[in-house]
Amino acid sequence: MSDLIEGFLGKSVDGKKSRLPAKLDYIQSATGLFLGLFMWGHMFFVSTILISKDFMYSLTKFMEGSMFFEEPKPGLVSTMVGIVIVVLVVHAAMGMRKLPTNFRQWQIFRTHMKMMRHDETNMWFIQAVTGFSMFFLASAHLFLMLTQPAMIGPFSSSDRMLTLWPFYLMLLFAVELHGSIGLYRLCIKWGWFEGSDAKKTRKTLKKVKWAITVFFLVLGLATLLAYLKIGLEHSDNAGERYHPTTQIEKIYSVNTGVKA
Ligand code: HEM
Repeated sequence: MSDLIEGFLGKSVDGKKSRLPAKLDYIQSATGLFLGLFMWGHMFFVSTILISKDFMYSLTKFMEGSMFFEEPKPGLVSTMVGIVIVVLVVHAAMGMRKLPTNFRQWQIFRTHMKMMRHDETNMWFIQAVTGFSMFFLASAHLFLMLTQPAMIGPFSSSDRMLTLWPFYLMLLFAVELHGSIGLYRLCIKWGWFEGSDAKKTRKTLKKVKWAITVFFLVLGLATLLAYLKIGLEHSDNAGERYHPTTQIEKIYSVNTGVKA
């Protein structure tokens, strides 16, 4: 009953201001922090193709439990994707509370933005638009990863990126801008790294934020180009699975009995 009253009046039964919005803000921040840090790890994982195909392959097998199981378990990757999907849905649901919900609100926001020319407001606008775009872009990518976990590897990922590169390009810019602005706003909102001079800290954090954005966009674009190059070279044999050099050696020596 008290939740009902709180939901209607925005006040708890004893007349105090409802703590619900603060709790929801906390959930949004916590899920945002998880996704932001996850994306840093994810970009380093995907960009291992820049080191070598073998390295990306062995990391993919590691994600499939090669350290613990004889046979690779792509189901482990699907489980991880499932967890990311749940966190992403909760985060998006919390984020929707902040988006302008009708044309009037949108108009007011845009006018405010044009008049104020305020950095933080512009950043919030970028975050709102990129957040909205990821309702679709991130869901599509995650659905692919959830249902085809075994189709991750130097050749399978390159074949897919060769076909879907415009999609990945949009997703890359959306997630890097949204993620780095989000982490910056979390630091400001919760006063992390504040120190004695909040104004100076905010300036430094903004520089760090842009440095991180540029770093991950450059890394992401270089990674995308690397997959496209492999995809083009491999396009005659698209669909063929990648065999790492060591395994080829092993297969070779098993088949011929001659050390390669
Ligand atoms: C556990 C969940 C995830 C897994 C297993 C995963 C896996 C991968 C893999 C294997 C690739 C290489 C391309 C491919 O094979 O299709 C990739 C690329 C990419 N993923 Fe994910 N991903 C996950 C979650 C996400 C999320 C939540 C986002 C953003 C909201 C995202 C954004 C991207 C982007 C932008 C690329 C392209 C990278 C580049 O262009 O350099 N991924 N991901």
